[in-house]
Amino acid sequence: MIKAIEKFIDKMPSLPATVSRVMEICDDPATSPADLNKVVGLDPVLMGKVMQLINSAYYGRPNKITSLVRAIILLGLNTVKNLALSTAVLGNLSSDHANDILNMDGFWEHSLCTGVIAKKIAAATRIDPKLHEEYFIAGLLHDIGKIPYTNCFPQEYLTAISKSDLNNTPLHKVETELFGFDHQEIGALITKHWKIEGAIRNAVEFHHRSNEYEGENKSLVYAVAVADYLSLYLERGFAGNRHPVEPESFVYDALGISFDQLEAMSDEIKKEIDKARVFLKISQ
Ligand SMILES: [Fe+2]
Ligand SMILES: [Fe+2]
Repeated sequence: MIKAIEKFIDKMPSLPATVSRVMEICDDPATSPADLNKVVGLDPVLMGKVMQLINSAYYGRPNKITSLVRAIILLGLNTVKNLALSTAVLGNLSSDHANDILNMDGFWEHSLCTGVIAKKIAAATRIDPKLHEEYFIAGLLHDIGKIPYTNCFPQEYLTAISKSDLNNTPLHKVETELFGFDHQEIGALITKHWKIEGAIRNAVEFHHRSNEYEGENKSLVYAVAVADYLSLYLERGFAGNRHPVEPESFVYDALGISFDQLEAMSDEIKKEIDKARVFLKISQ
């Protein structure tokens, strides 16, 4: 079964050259907004999206920005990088079968909500603001591994979703039972295919098993695990799993935040989700 999924992932287009270049130069600490301006300027679609984002309600700026380099300075290199990345990923992830099996609106709503909460956790736990957008993207992408199932095994995946529902079992456990692998493993294969590394790949690969993660990106991996749980708790969107497992207390302790503190932020989070929808819309 994994062969069919691997074949499907191999056939996914690789990320466009500009996007790979943007990711590469943003990871170089010596990069300036002017360098990024040169690369983004070569790609009219991406350039349009950068301008759209800085002038969107998400940033709520009083005056219209018309210069690309100014937009890059205001957004920051990381945000531009993440916009490029999410644009490429979302553009690549349209699934023909997905709508019958997983409702894609519900799926992206869950993903968006997880991204917003992960970013909120980063802010509340005093993570360097430069990294906040990476938390958002990791949350946005954490469940991408579910998409290939809906393409390769639509009927079987529908069975997995209803089995999870009826038996009160988390979806990723049922996936392993029925397929021998879960969406974390598939997500890891997708990120590998797209050469997405580091914290984002770690979150995709470990969001249901914090206790197995030993790498250097614990804060982000844990934040996504908590955000995933909270977005299901707040009933925002639906990605096939009605029985989330609450992260263990060591996860909250390591982050330095409690569930109650986060729950108290529900109203703020809901407002943020509405704002972040713009980001998703621009990316698609
Ligand atoms: Fe998941
Ligand atoms: Fe999830």
